[in-house]
Parts: sequence; C-alpha cells; structure tokens
Amino acid sequence: MKKKMGTEESKKIWEKNAKFWDNAMGNQSNDFHRKVVRPKVTELLSPNSTDYILDVACGNGNYSSYLAQIGAAIVAFDYSEKMIELAKKEAI
Ligand SMILES: C[S@@+](CC[C@H](N)C(=O)[O-])C[C@H]1O[C@@H](n2cnc3c(N)ncnc32)[C@H](O)[C@@H]1O
Repeated sequence: MKKKMGTEESKKIWEKNAKFWDNAMGNQSNDFHRKVVRPKVTELLSPNSTDYILDVACGNGNYSSYLAQIGAAIVAFDYSEKMIELAKKEAI
C-alpha cells in the first residue's frame, strides 16, 4: 500500500519549489488562473473594501495582492517560509 505523504514532507517539497512557483506565477499568476480560477473565485467571494479575507496557502501571494488591490484587507498564510518571503515581496 502506498504511504500517505505527511505535512512535513509536503512542506519540504513546497520549500524546494517555492522559487520555481514564483518564477512561473509571477505577480499576475498564469493564464489558467487569470482566465478561469480568478474570475470564478472572485465572483464567489464578491470582495469589497469592507471585507477582511484570510488567504490560506497563499503561495507567493499573487491572489492576495489582487484582492488587496480591490481594497479588501487580507491576511495571508502559508506553511512555507520561502513562500511567505516571496509574498512579502509582492505585498502592496
Ligand atoms: C498550488 S500552490 C497555490 C498558491 C496560491 N493559493 C495560488 O493560487 O497561487 C499551494 C500552496 O499551498 C501551500 N500549502 C500546502 N499545504 C499547506 C498547509 N497544510 N498549510 C499551509 N500552506 C499549505 C504550499 O506551500 C503552496 O504555497
């Protein structure tokens, strides 16, 4: 039977891939995210300037940053310290 991956193991993998993810996503994310994921998630969230949003597993913070530009207050969290460093770089 295949062993399930634990949190520490997956965290190590994201730490290792953080820079690659950041290079691939940049501050605008990729086409799929921009054209498919963002519009639908944004429609469901319907964010406005009075909202206080928690972005769990924020990665490099590109979507947090987008939400902040709409005017919402954002708290972003990720278990990868490298991702948080990258997200701070994107923070407006
Ligand atoms: C596919 S990326 C998505 C990043 C971001 N939400 C986006 O849309 O660009 C997944 C992110 O989830 C984070 N992650 C995965 N499991 C997590 C956990 N248990 N707690 C916190 N962050 C987690 C990873 O470190 C990674 O940054």
